[in-house]
Amino acid sequence: MGHPGILQPVEKIWLDGTLVDWSAATVHVLTHSLHYGVAAFEGIRLYRREDGRSAVFRLAEHIDRLFDSCAIATLAPPYSREDISRACLETLRANKMTEAYVRPIVFLGDGGLGLGSLDVPTRVAIAVYQWGAYLGDEGLKKGIRAKVSSYTRGALNSAMSKGKLSGQYVNSVLAKREVMRAGYEEAILLDAQGHVAEASGENVFMVKRGRLITPPLSSPILAGVTRDSMLTLARELGITVEERTFARDELYIADEVFFTGTAAEVTPVREVDDRRVGNGEVGPLTRRVQDAFFAVVKAARPPEKHQEWLTWL
Ligand SMILES: Cc1ncc(COP(=O)(O)O)c(C=O)c1O
Repeated sequence: MGHPGILQPVEKIWLDGTLVDWSAATVHVLTHSLHYGVAAFEGIRLYRREDGRSAVFRLAEHIDRLFDSCAIATLAPPYSREDISRACLETLRANKMTEAYVRPIVFLGDGGLGLGSLDVPTRVAIAVYQWGAYLGDEGLKKGIRAKVSSYTRGALNSAMSKGKLSGQYVNSVLAKREVMRAGYEEAILLDAQGHVAEASGENVFMVKRGRLITPPLSSPILAGVTRDSMLTLARELGITVEERTFARDELYIADEVFFTGTAAEVTPVREVDDRRVGNGEVGPLTRRVQDAFFAVVKAARPPEKHQEWLTWL
């Protein structure tokens, strides 16, 4: 893979129902969503397993969330869930991908720039590309350094946090850039009350005295598919799980902290705001749930239990 921020082109992108060449998948500069950010998108992973087969992880849940995001944003995709699921698989096959990040996006096209423009077409694109460990291979193994951002996660009635909506990512991008410039790898955002919400592109978990704790879905957070998988896997391992709010100081005294996300997978956090988490090494519970996650997505023989999470390519 080249520079981590630079996409390596593949052959085809699915655009409005057909596969077109990567370089031909362009939009007009007066595309409505480019100006106002009303677009819904997803991030999905295709994993190549140790036996060489490939499967998409929790495709149905991601497509369901895409449609939820559309409902929140009053977008009406001109395709069904089945159409878009099929198109994701078709795009992966057309590009002969064995592992990939899949990025569907539903957006408003050009033809009107009024905020209330109801006559602009709703368009859909699906791109697939190589994307390694988002917070680095080293980060996955040894943990990363995170900092609480000065930017707050949007209040419940302004940011529509249950929608994965393009415009809302200004908040995440500003937070991420702020902490990266200060030398950290990921930003943690607090909600308007000061509770820990989520990281710029991940959900947050902490471990205290053997219990796994994460903010509840009533907080302004995205309902992460990896978060849901983690809660399920942890319960199956007999770990007590709590979904409750907590403030940043609880992170400072947590035994372990980690982030979950499609891009970041399960990434341990070894420092928060310059304070070492635990002894600064990846904790035993983090290691257990990380191993359980990778067994489902990558092992040659996935556990019998979660076959329904896998869509074979
Ligand atoms: C803001 C935010 N929170 C959480 C997540 C994690 O969600 P998922 O596990 O579904 O990728 C993401 C990534 O999609 C995100 O962008």
